[in-house]
Amino acid sequence: MAEAFDAAGLPLDKARRYVALRAEIAAVLEGEPDLVARMATVAAMLAQAFPQFLWTGFYVVDPASPRELVVGPYQGTLGCLRIGFGKGVCGAAAEQRRTQVVSDVDAFPGHIACDSRSRSEIVAPVLDGAGRLIAVLDVDSAELGAFDDADARGLEAILADTFAGRAETTLP
Ligand code: SME
Repeated sequence: MAEAFDAAGLPLDKARRYVALRAEIAAVLEGEPDLVARMATVAAMLAQAFPQFLWTGFYVVDPASPRELVVGPYQGTLGCLRIGFGKGVCGAAAEQRRTQVVSDVDAFPGHIACDSRSRSEIVAPVLDGAGRLIAVLDVDSAELGAFDDADARGLEAILADTFAGRAETTLP
């Protein structure tokens, strides 16, 4: 049984907060192979560590329809169920396998508005240990320009640790 997670103990500096959170997530998930449990835990701990995140969760590549994402574990208001590759920010991250930082969602062609309060977002691809795309992580904010390179590097490091088994790679 994992110990209680107290986000109040995390550093305030954003980059350092991601580094500390990365260690907390790895400790909680140690020995747990189930993918849903891992995604649910990452979504919950990110949302707890960053209360300003409006929506935090995964869209998973559907094995029955490999060019389509289907909603996975998340924290937030009701999310869209399915997003095609190339559609919206999530679909762009899946198609390009590259993190998308969108400082103004209204300026992103084809942005999919699940929650009308969303103003900016970041979506990072989730790769498994063999380099296959298995999902994307989507984080939305009600503030314009809420995400920057520190978020991209912090989230990518957590995803690499958690889903590609790269806990030994260098800290950001
Ligand atoms: N905004 C996303 C859709 C998913 S939700 O915001 C939960 C997008 O354009 O990909």
